Amino acid sequence: MKSLLRNIAAATAALALSMGAAASQTYPNRHITLIVPYAAGGPSDAIARLVGQSMSETLKQQVVIENVAGAGGTMGAARLAKADKDGYTFLIHHIALAAGASLYKNLSYDTLGDIEAVGLVNYGPMVVTTKKDYQAADAKALFAKLKTDGDKTTAAHAGVGSNSHLCNLLLQQTLDVKFTEAAYRGTGPAMNDLMGGKVDLLCDQSTTAVPQIQGNTIKAFAVTSKDRLNVIPDVPTAQEAGLKDFEFVIWHGLYAPKGTPREAISKVNQALQVALEDPNVRARFADVGTQVFGASERSPEAHQKRFEKELATWKDVLGKAGVSAGN
Ligand code: MLT
Repeated sequence: MKSLLRNIAAATAALALSMGAAASQTYPNRHITLIVPYAAGGPSDAIARLVGQSMSETLKQQVVIENVAGAGGTMGAARLAKADKDGYTFLIHHIALAAGASLYKNLSYDTLGDIEAVGLVNYGPMVVTTKKDYQAADAKALFAKLKTDGDKTTAAHAGVGSNSHLCNLLLQQTLDVKFTEAAYRGTGPAMNDLMGGKVDLLCDQSTTAVPQIQGNTIKAFAVTSKDRLNVIPDVPTAQEAGLKDFEFVIWHGLYAPKGTPREAISKVNQALQVALEDPNVRARFADVGTQVFGASERSPEAHQKRFEKELATWKDVLGKAGVSAGN
């Protein structure tokens, strides 16, 4: 009887192993969901759609974008953390994933315990912009006016902890003012309201700010990187305009629920590498002033290392600033 049970157990284990191998050979055999934690039409959505299209071609399965917006990007992260760990759900997110871990006191997930890195995507600066008819001659004049106007300035952002919110916070701290903040589900809708003149100020990623600046629908005053952006060469850096040490560069990465099979992570990472080497993707990134990480930085391991460093950085920065949010 004992040996019969042993034989059944061995046969079951062998079957499970061969099924696993067969599954990994055919992976992916259905569409993959890529969660974007902000509204459609914003920078994270734009990057996800561009990269996702190329990845669909490589993986021979559709990468379907699902916008799960809200609470500064933490709703989308929660959706990923609770998804099946079967290699069919991924998330694109930026530094707000790391900042949110310290900012939000009641997250429904454990950022490091439930989520793992798959590969870095792009990095780039933000641009301090205003509605078109905002009256300031240049960046220096804008910063002086923001200081004087205080809470008369309405500043849009994509929710507490989003890049646009963190950029806003940095600007307020540097200028020692308090704006009236307007939170949106992403900078897509925030940008619409800036273009419509409903809010005064938005610090948005170059990805979606540059086309509007070039189309003259909003005004650009300063970029948040150390160097100017060659696609909007007339816009000075915030440092050039007198904000000493003001620098804010953001980056996106792909994430999976922790425990996703290594074969799936590796295949999706390979498809991401192909996308990031694609001349069309690179040209579209360059057009909007955002850049691809170097090949050696794009492995899941290198991304995980950067993610953990970013978590520690934001814990320190937000702890010192005493900033927190409910969820
Ligand atoms: C978005 O896609 O709306 C942005 O990434 C939001 C932000 O972090 O500012």
